[in-house]
Amino acid sequence: METVNQKINFNFILDSFNDAYIPLLANEARYLLLYGGAGSGKSVFAAQKILMRCLKEHNHKFLFIRKVARTIRGSQFSLFKGLTVDAGLNEFFSIRESDMKITCKLNGNEIVTAGVDDREKLKSIYGITSVWVEEATEIDAQDFRQIDLRLRGKTQNYKQIILSFNPVDANHWLNTTALKNSIKLRTTFRDNKFIDEEYYEVLESLKEQNPDYYKIYALGEWGVKRTLIYKPFEIIAEYPGSFEEIIYGLDFGYNNKTALVKIGIKDNQFYLSELIYESMLTSKDLTEKIFEKGYRKGENVYCDSAEPGKIEELKRAGINSYPADKSVKDGIDYVRTCVIFSNERNSGINKEVLSYSYKQDKDGNILEDPVKFNDHAMDAIRYALYTHKKKKKTAKIVWI
Ligand SMILES: Nc1ncnc2c1ncn2[C@@H]1O[C@H](COP(=O)(O)OP(=O)(O)OP(=O)(O)O)[C@@H](O)[C@H]1O
Ligand SMILES: [Mg+2]
Repeated sequence: METVNQKINFNFILDSFNDAYIPLLANEARYLLLYGGAGSGKSVFAAQKILMRCLKEHNHKFLFIRKVARTIRGSQFSLFKGLTVDAGLNEFFSIRESDMKITCKLNGNEIVTAGVDDREKLKSIYGITSVWVEEATEIDAQDFRQIDLRLRGKTQNYKQIILSFNPVDANHWLNTTALKNSIKLRTTFRDNKFIDEEYYEVLESLKEQNPDYYKIYALGEWGVKRTLIYKPFEIIAEYPGSFEEIIYGLDFGYNNKTALVKIGIKDNQFYLSELIYESMLTSKDLTEKIFEKGYRKGENVYCDSAEPGKIEELKRAGINSYPADKSVKDGIDYVRTCVIFSNERNSGINKEVLSYSYKQDKDGNILEDPVKFNDHAMDAIRYALYTHKKKKKTAKIVWI
């Protein structure tokens, strides 16, 4: 144990934390609301606090929860795993990838994961001692009450629900409902000493692009988004079993997210499936993933035309990739006329569509261009739908 404590003390010097969060490390309020702007360190702190508790306290079963189970692997689970590695503590944890269960080898503490959409799994989890709800604005008040009810009974340590989120809509229940015994902390990217220069500039640039957006994502204040570009796509539980045609839209990224959206077409209606939505993908990773996700030879992939080298790489790997027509205004106008369906698994798409907005000038006038932020899936969808439409039109002319 001696060596363990030494290691923990060594790695968990206060420098690993952003200052704004340090007073909350020992805070025992039932509800800890970490809200604010993008990149303010909320998620990292939530994971850090749970890691600390996991090492210091006993008889724990923490629950990591989000609206959609499938999004936990790329967020809470990978963040926590990364943290144990960065702190040099990974040897003290056993991590089961299959069901994303983490056990602390020192004391048997557990972390389990479940999505709100995972009702059966959620029902089968007993003895939860604390919870972290990531992107808490995704869940409704009723879901929250269910989670809250799961956290009851006598426990050795304090029971806490951490809720981390961006203050996207002032009418949200998280803003309008008073939670007893809660602590709120609002943070912004300026509270995050680990943020990179590039991100800093992107957030600062929102001020010029759209004041509403700036308010939410840079200042971290509750906002109302008045300039949304699309109506949220209708969410349906089941897609048709077969389509007349399948196309893909691809927006390249590295630091930013790479977004690949598959679109099934039937009766002139479009069904979206988010296949890739992640950062730090190399070209090789991307090619492999496209095939892994079920791409079939001959299907067309409409890509961000600003990256001809990448398009060529995909082509050489056997993927029918084309540069997309990137006319923003015409593209958006066309997408708005389309009947588009999404499903609950498309968490990146569903989140982006709720914030995808036009730029505004200083006087609040709405401009023609979208705000360049959280727009990767939106771009991918537009590339595919609009280019495909234009291609079909040209093809017809040739045939007649
Ligand atoms: N304590 C920390 N130590 C090291 N890096 C950190 C720390 N806190 C934040 N970061 C860095 O800052 C980035 C943004 O932090 P984080 O993801 O926690 O922000 P967030 O507030 O959850 O953002 P969002 O609102 O977009 O979800 C992280 O990806 C990480 O690179
Ligand atoms: Mg976060």
